[in-house]
Amino acid sequence: MSTAAASREEPNVEPVTIGTEAFTSAEYAKAEGVRLWPRVWQHACRVEEIPNVGDFVVYDILDDTILIVRSKPDKISAFYNVCAHRGRRLMSGCGHASHFHCRYHAWQYDLEGENIRVLDKEDWGGALAPERLRLREVRVDTWGGWVWINMDPDCEPLREYLEPAASMLDPFQLEQMRYRWRQWGYFDCNWKTAMEAFIESYHVEGTHPQLLKYAEFYTWSQSDGWHSHHGFKERDPSLSTSQSNTIVRAGRGADARVSIADLQEEVFRTVNASTTRTFVDAAARLVQELPEGTPPDRVMAHFLESARRDDAARGVRWPDIDPDHYARSGIAWNVFPNLSIAHGYTFALCYRARPHGHDPDKCIFEASVLERFPQGGEPKTEWVFAEPTDVQKWRSVLIQDFANMSEVQRGMKCRGFRGTLPNPRQEQPVINFHRNLARYMGTGAPRPLK
Ligand code: FES
Ligand SMILES: [Fe+2]
Repeated sequence: MSTAAASREEPNVEPVTIGTEAFTSAEYAKAEGVRLWPRVWQHACRVEEIPNVGDFVVYDILDDTILIVRSKPDKISAFYNVCAHRGRRLMSGCGHASHFHCRYHAWQYDLEGENIRVLDKEDWGGALAPERLRLREVRVDTWGGWVWINMDPDCEPLREYLEPAASMLDPFQLEQMRYRWRQWGYFDCNWKTAMEAFIESYHVEGTHPQLLKYAEFYTWSQSDGWHSHHGFKERDPSLSTSQSNTIVRAGRGADARVSIADLQEEVFRTVNASTTRTFVDAAARLVQELPEGTPPDRVMAHFLESARRDDAARGVRWPDIDPDHYARSGIAWNVFPNLSIAHGYTFALCYRARPHGHDPDKCIFEASVLERFPQGGEPKTEWVFAEPTDVQKWRSVLIQDFANMSEVQRGMKCRGFRGTLPNPRQEQPVINFHRNLARYMGTGAPRPLK
């Protein structure tokens, strides 16, 4: 977006309130289709989905439809997915094509969007200029292993838009990860209600109480221009971010060897993400490998070292990340507007929510789990549809998150609700999201709480 400059100020911890218009108003939802979505960078698919020339993915956002294609071995192109003749949507879903063929009157386009066939072209008497016939281009770029599109031809470059999130997350080499699983569904809430369930950890005590026996989830949070992130924090202010990160991740049990193993096992079983089999197995050995009474920071260092070694032995190389950087990068990012990334050394749990039509009470929600695999050991995955109540497919922790979404959506419409009260220290991502959304929308900025 060329007109609005992202803020780089220090976190503003002044308490604020945010109105409900952005979540519940049909007019606001409609306006997003004009002011937000056509002007913002959006991740459309993973690069891994289009490895070969001719592989394509269609990305739909409200009324707009975009065709993303690997047009050359080293080039990804994006076009409006609409036939120049009478406006039929050209392609759907994903697949492979040598060229794009419109199924209405058989016009054709090559992978670079040039029209290569008009049936009975002479009937136009030479009036059809190639420029008028070609598919209209959309700005496209890649970062983190995702393909990003922006419908605004004057938008700022993707890299600039993503900073400082891009530089903070680059060391994790998300582009080296591949899908482990990916699921989607239609949810009964606004897309923002869904996103906000995953950009703070203040909700853990209320929503995931079963996790409290393993660790305390007090967090810091920070606004980063368009984006934001949060991470673990001990309540003791004398501890550095790095020390806090280690202590919290070591768990709250008296014996860190046991609490690390228990937490890894619980997360693997109930989230099916945010850890890997390697971590679970390395954690399970801690009791045999270390003497009782080993201090938590030593247990944590040993745990990471043996997981790193196990992965190396099976051909999975860890990125080298400075521990301070790791701590400062936190546990999850909101990349404005609708990507949430909970990252680790060899994995990431990502969420996306998009509007479903112009109904403010509906969205398309997607979760994708990325992991580093040995070369050639990447699983073949597809998008799997799952109802928001399907605990078999989503596992229990996400089902707990989902249960809040529709209840929040309904609650916010109640005439007795006076606007949200996000936690100024732990829910900065929620506040910053609305501050930035208001820059696009021209309305609805968080207001100081008097
Ligand atoms: S609409 Fe595509 S060929 Fe007629
Ligand atoms: Fe949660």
